[in-house]
Amino acid sequence: MSDFDDFTMAYQDSADGLTLLMIHGFPLNSSMWELQMEDLATMARLIAPDLRGHGFSDPAAGPYSMEMLAKDCAGLLDRLAIETPVIVCGHSMGGYVAFEFCRRYPERVAGLILVGTRPGADSAEGKAGREKTAESVRTEGPQVVVKTMLPKLFAPATYESDQEVVEFVEDMMTHTSANGMIGALLAMRDRPDSTPDLADLDIPVLIIHGADDKLIPPSEAHAMHEAFPDSQLVIIPGAGHLPNLERPDEFNDAVVDFLESLADEEE
Ligand code: MLT
Repeated sequence: MSDFDDFTMAYQDSADGLTLLMIHGFPLNSSMWELQMEDLATMARLIAPDLRGHGFSDPAAGPYSMEMLAKDCAGLLDRLAIETPVIVCGHSMGGYVAFEFCRRYPERVAGLILVGTRPGADSAEGKAGREKTAESVRTEGPQVVVKTMLPKLFAPATYESDQEVVEFVEDMMTHTSANGMIGALLAMRDRPDSTPDLADLDIPVLIIHGADDKLIPPSEAHAMHEAFPDSQLVIIPGAGHLPNLERPDEFNDAVVDFLESLADEEE
């Protein structure tokens, strides 16, 4: 646990070495990285916060913003006395936080891993949808999001045949407070367009996307790959919005290859 001025943040931290800051998506928490914590910890130090309102962090009241969430992540690195640049890995909403982190703290970023995410801002329709969902959470509670979003998170094959992973994610979602959901939904509504930043992000980037992602289409990953000066793109067949949980071996192999390529560049 790490105390901030207005809330206490829970987090996981694996080992010494090259540091990966693993930022989860909505409405999940650091346990989404469980299979990476297990398999990648021998080659990197993985730090995975529960963003405010999510998981075991305090259910801090909103409003939230991407700026606030990025500052929380930097604050955690400060508290852990991590001064050297890190690889920021963001899943979906965590990718939106990662873009903000790059804008605010470029000197702290050695590379990016972007998982099932997109750089663009919400459309007018998307913003209206966020408000409607936030209102439903206010009136009906967080379960409404769990129910509607859960099936959309997976490739059809995963949802139909991997009950264990579906239940694991459902359980994770139920640990997100109403404050966390509403805060995150409205922060996503208000996030800026990061597309113009991509061409100037001259750091190594790995983009990983599920071929069957129903929430963010793989075309977004292809477009980002074109826009970054130095990126690798891995599309994982048979995975939906959560490739790290649905196809952990392929996901972890892609991350290992990327980390090795960074190490080779340094030699
Ligand atoms: C997420 O998985 O973090 C969200 O679905 C992203 C979004 O709604 O834009």
